[in-house]
Amino acid sequence: MTILITGSNGQLGTEIRNLAPQHSSHRFIFTDVAELNITDREAVRRFVADNAVDLIINCAAYTNVDRAEEDEPTARLINAAAVENLALSGARIIHVSTDYVFSGDGCVPYREDDPVDPRTAYGRTKLEGEQLLLKAAPDAIIFRTAWLYSPYGTNFVKTMLRLGAERDELSVVYDQVGTPTYAADLAAAILAAVECPEWHPGIYHYTNEGVCSWFDFTVEILRQAGKMSNLQCFVRPILSAQYAYKTPRPHYSVLDKAKVKATFGIDIPYWTDSLRHCLQQM
Ligand SMILES: NC(=O)c1ccc[n+]([C@@H]2O[C@H](COP(=O)([O-])OP(=O)(O)OC[C@H]3O[C@@H](n4cnc5c(N)ncnc54)[C@H](OP(=O)(O)O)[C@@H]3O)[C@@H](O)[C@H]2O)c1
Repeated sequence: MTILITGSNGQLGTEIRNLAPQHSSHRFIFTDVAELNITDREAVRRFVADNAVDLIINCAAYTNVDRAEEDEPTARLINAAAVENLALSGARIIHVSTDYVFSGDGCVPYREDDPVDPRTAYGRTKLEGEQLLLKAAPDAIIFRTAWLYSPYGTNFVKTMLRLGAERDELSVVYDQVGTPTYAADLAAAILAAVECPEWHPGIYHYTNEGVCSWFDFTVEILRQAGKMSNLQCFVRPILSAQYAYKTPRPHYSVLDKAKVKATFGIDIPYWTDSLRHCLQQM
């Protein structure tokens, strides 16, 4: 198969690039906005036709939640309209979405068919992307994920490592819970779907295993990093109301992963183990 990766300079795209040599029966084409701007419908159509692309794994997105709130039209262009462009290109699609399609008011892990109710511009535009995709290409696969991190780009782990080295104390919320996702694990799960002998369209939830708050996540990041270096920093638990968020954040983001495990026969690593693997790569 010829597989086009869009947005391939981002966290997930880079991890797929790292794993691609293990899937040498396929031809991978890695692009980011400079090579293929997915908001350009004609360019997408031409690229897919010229390169005989069979499958697109869409890693491109407008992921800055605060900036999306200030500029929803641009977020919509990339997270929704551009996804429709991919869907109309004639190739099969694996797309990536987010826990932000849910309200975050729940208290049991979200299943794929639970009602959606996004509360942010980012969540609304990502949901529109899902809907446009499934309308134009009903056989698409969508992986919804949450709390993504990796050695690349900007993410919570890298921010906490930087702040932990600069400061003696950090205040982090403990009333928002979810599960971190190491982008390398998500990349492996996506490639398991690619390698599956049968194509299984639909929405799948994927994060690492376990549940924690951002406070717990920070404590574990600094604890593991502290073992590898001299990093020492006190982490203080606070409530969301004590933190000046520009955009409201979901209080509950835990995703039920039973469907992805049963369909693709994958085991999902526990979040602290994956964090250790990531820190070792950094
Ligand atoms: N990060 C998270 O915590 C998180 C959580 C849940 C779900 N997700 C979803 O997971 C997926 C992967 O996220 P990620 O963290 O890997 O994203 P990322 O690191 O922000 O990477 C996205 C990539 O897409 C590129 N891009 C932006 N606009 C484009 C365009 N018009 N055409 C082509 N490429 C474009 C970006 O380039 P620039 O950097 O130049 O803009 C960037 O290289 C996304 O669908 C995201 O919504 C992420």
